[in-house]
Amino acid sequence: MRLTEILAELERYLDDDAPQVSLPPAAFTSPELWEAERELVLARSWLLAAHADQLAGPGASVTLAPAGRPVTVTREPDGTLRARSALGPHRPTPAVEEWRGLVFLNPDGTAEPLAPHLRRTGEELTAYRLSEMTQVASWTEEWRCNWKIAVQNAHENYHAMGLHPTTVALITPPGGAMEVRTETRWVTRLLSPFREPLAATALPLDADQRATMYNCAVFPCGSLAAFGDSVVWITMIPLAVDRVEVRGGVLMHPAALAGLDQDALDEQFAELAAGAEVVNREDRVGMEAVQRVAGSRFAARGHLSPKEPGVTAFYRALARSLTAP
Ligand SMILES: [Fe+2]
Repeated sequence: MRLTEILAELERYLDDDAPQVSLPPAAFTSPELWEAERELVLARSWLLAAHADQLAGPGASVTLAPAGRPVTVTREPDGTLRARSALGPHRPTPAVEEWRGLVFLNPDGTAEPLAPHLRRTGEELTAYRLSEMTQVASWTEEWRCNWKIAVQNAHENYHAMGLHPTTVALITPPGGAMEVRTETRWVTRLLSPFREPLAATALPLDADQRATMYNCAVFPCGSLAAFGDSVVWITMIPLAVDRVEVRGGVLMHPAALAGLDQDALDEQFAELAAGAEVVNREDRVGMEAVQRVAGSRFAARGHLSPKEPGVTAFYRALARSLTAP
């Protein structure tokens, strides 16, 4: 399938009667589409890069390589964050922005700020006191799949039935309806019911917040999900057409940890890390299998379930970036 044909299919998601099917399989394997994404999406979008705890002291740095172009974010002696292309000083300086402890970078240093797009999210997340949270577990791993397979997966919880029957599916029922609201061209809010409302938390959450998982997706590849006293952030950094680096962390509010001694804290953090490892492995195995199918000559588009409106929202954001940048 040629690039122009893939783009024409993508544009159809912008119609009111958008097709209820997944992207053409070629969208996950096409080198031409990958080149277009590198220039039109990855070189000019806000990419979730790290949590501020990873950049706590002067000189602390994080390096990631979106589209194979390495960028280093460093905490300067004056406390500010600075991003540099690791390919040399003659490269344009990327923009970096910290929002409530989450660090985003944009390879396009002249990009419009991200924070205004997160204004409503910030208001709705006030009770979670995100800025005060600390990172208690984190991971970096590589999956052998196209980045869009990983990102679309994060826009629906239907897959929990197949991939996470004994983990995620116990918390968010896969049959639960997801409510999707597109905030701006960069931000989509996804709400899913928990199986049971959370018990009392250390945070002042209302009944709706205790009954609902609040998920905010920042196009193209970042997201955060609030579960009461903890928030999980995850980012799918595209490395190549068939490789993605998955980074993420679990944040907790100190109030939820008050009164625990060091042994109890260590035990809880180790449990969180082990749990994340299991869920990530379940997703990785599933996503790598989808990638193998997408590359086969028998691959066909799949129907999207009515439980997957988040996937359509992601396709729309992608179509806008690629066809009307
Ligand atoms: Fe998953």
